[in-house]
Amino acid sequence: MNTSLNLLRRPRRNRHTASIRSLVQETKLHREDFIQPLFFHGGGGEPQEIESMPGIVRHTIISLLEECRSLADLGMSAVALFPCIDPAHKDERAMHAVASENILFRAIKEIKKISPRFLVIADVALDPYTSHGHDGLLNEAGHIVNDPTVELLARLAVMEAEAGADIVAPSDMMDGRVRAIRNALDAASLQDRGIMAYSAKYASAYYGPFRDALGSKVGDSPLDKKSYQMDPANIREALLEVKLDEEEGADIVMIKPAGAYLDVIRAVREATDLPVAAYQVSGEYAQICAAAQLGWLDYDATRNEALLAIKRAGASMILSYFSAELLREWK
Ligand code: PBG
Repeated sequence: MNTSLNLLRRPRRNRHTASIRSLVQETKLHREDFIQPLFFHGGGGEPQEIESMPGIVRHTIISLLEECRSLADLGMSAVALFPCIDPAHKDERAMHAVASENILFRAIKEIKKISPRFLVIADVALDPYTSHGHDGLLNEAGHIVNDPTVELLARLAVMEAEAGADIVAPSDMMDGRVRAIRNALDAASLQDRGIMAYSAKYASAYYGPFRDALGSKVGDSPLDKKSYQMDPANIREALLEVKLDEEEGADIVMIKPAGAYLDVIRAVREATDLPVAAYQVSGEYAQICAAAQLGWLDYDATRNEALLAIKRAGASMILSYFSAELLREWK
């Protein structure tokens, strides 16, 4: 067979060997891209496994510190902290959020002793502290009330920053919270602390395993957060949220979830000059783990492809439950 098409352009030439493929590769994953979300509780004993998130645990404060030291040694830049609060401390008004004995503040203080270059990102939302599991306060009619929630969130953000958090990350989706938090931080002489705004956070079914991890699940059916988190059908609304957060003083904007919202990441990337973060959430992690456990998907290849797609869409940094293991593999 010596048929030969007379082709000037043969894109396969650039795919011929691993070496040429690595030279022409347009998107690369780097250790600097990754942020590990970490769960922890205030009790003793061993780290607790989370059934729907294989390989991820609820740390004790001691194991949390060990993990952070190890991640700092591996060259990770930042972790995002999520406290699992004792149900005895939860109430309707989320009072424990701003109690000085909140384990979150203790954890931040301890982690910040590891190294000044190892950044701590603290989530700002009320769901770990409310008995009803919502991110905001409810009125008598059962509606989330925006402005009183924002006031409490700003106090929480200041306490996180005073404990040493480098970045506070409001994940509540209340209106006006970025401005309120910026003002409160500045008033407390914390001008150097950043705000990573969960700007476009969708009311997603992919958060299920996270709510198992934090025990913020109430009853059997998923909590309806549609009055504050965004409709998965909307993208123009995401651009509005990003614009407002930018005007209100956000330093980084975030899209969440990531994998099912690549078009949103791309659109936001083009609409703002701020850095764009993407959160590959618990359900995205769980899907890959589950299919791989069944032998239906190749774990490493699927994981890497999912992360590459998020970066290719335009994310400058990725919060992912795979972050720590990737850095360990790349060591
Ligand atoms: C709550 C919060 C959630 C996540 C991060 N912060 C869950 C929710 O809104 O119900 C989800 C993260 C994940 O699924 O990995 N403020």
